[in-house]
Amino acid sequence: MRAKATRWAVLAGLMFLLGAGVCVAGTITGSQHDFTTKAWSGGRICVACHVTHKSDTSVTDAPLWSHANSTQTYTVYSSPTLNAGPMGQPSGLSKLCLSCHDGTVAIDSFGGNTGTTMISAVNNIGTSLADDHPIGFTYNTALATADGALFDPSTKSVTIGSGSQTKTGTITATLLYNGKMECSSCHDVHNTFTAGTSHLVKLPEAGSTICLACHNK
Ligand code: HEC
Ligand code: HEC
Ligand code: HEC
Ligand code: HEC
Repeated sequence: MRAKATRWAVLAGLMFLLGAGVCVAGTITGSQHDFTTKAWSGGRICVACHVTHKSDTSVTDAPLWSHANSTQTYTVYSSPTLNAGPMGQPSGLSKLCLSCHDGTVAIDSFGGNTGTTMISAVNNIGTSLADDHPIGFTYNTALATADGALFDPSTKSVTIGSGSQTKTGTITATLLYNGKMECSSCHDVHNTFTAGTSHLVKLPEAGSTICLACHNK
């Protein structure tokens, strides 16, 4: 009798924690991308980004996309030592992130509606990508050779995620999308394979593990 009551108390406690939006590693629930507590979400999570029918196919490779896209032309990263350059405009998957994170389109603009809630200043990376890690380019063996201090993405093995939710494979298999560097090379939008709860990063920031996964420094 008593043990049963305790179990219920523990369960109730857990549900309270989840309901309070505490970030649980390994799931989108409670992560920064869990929108259930926002008035505009109708208590749902996926809806701001995905829709099961009549989705927006205007961005290449977009997965059943629902969020209004940005029409920005971005200033791109450049440097004299960059081997991958010159950079072009961000490609498909990164454009999806920028549809909220460039700060020009409301978070709650989805499903054909125009919203009013903008991303917070701290998570607004702006419309200049010149001050951000380069994205949208092919990272292959040839680039690694040309650079001299990058691991060969087709052979270097990395483990992303943490706890019971990890995935091991080459850089190409775990961090690249169509062979390209994207926002999702470093971040897991669903918090499924992340190193912890902070910044949704796939590999730990501690000791710069995330940087040393690709850069042979
Ligand atoms: C904040 C936006 C956002 C939310 C919220 C979101 N997704 Fe996604 N999802 C994306 C993006 C962007 C991609 C493209 C691939 C990537 O970047 O990982 C994607 C890809 C996917 C894919 C295909 C690739 C894969 O990872 O298997 C599935 C399936 C998916 N999402 C399911 C869901 C479900 C189910 C939910 C709700 C529980 C959800 N997503 C919530 C942005 C989102
Ligand atoms: C090379 C890895 C890498 C890539 C690529 C990358 N990020 Fe990040 N991002 C990080 C790390 C690491 C942090 C943690 C804070 C820091 O170091 O600035 C971060 C932080 C953030 C934050 C939190 C706010 C902040 O500035 O701290 C947002 C939002 C973000 N990234 C979005 C994006 C978007 C959108 C893209 C694609 C346009 C992207 N990131 C590409 C590694 C990356
Ligand atoms: C529907 C809008 C939307 C899309 C699309 C979206 N995000 Fe976010 N993201 C948010 C919101 C909202 C927050 C947190 C609350 C805020 O800043 O307003 C956030 C927070 C983050 C953070 C900060 C996490 C932290 O710990 O501080 C990162 C990193 C991030 N997003 C990366 C991405 C990446 C990468 C993509 C694409 C794969 C993406 N987001 C797509 C809306 C979005
Ligand atoms: C998924 C692989 C990957 C990860 C993770 C990654 N990088 Fe990179 N980074 C690259 C590639 C590929 C380039 C392009 C190099 C080139 O073309 O010279 C690059 C470019 C850069 C550049 C610009 C180099 C130049 O010559 O202008 C810097 C600086 C940099 N990365 C730092 C970092 C830091 C710091 C981190 C960790 C927060 C990080 N990178 C994480 C793959 C990665």
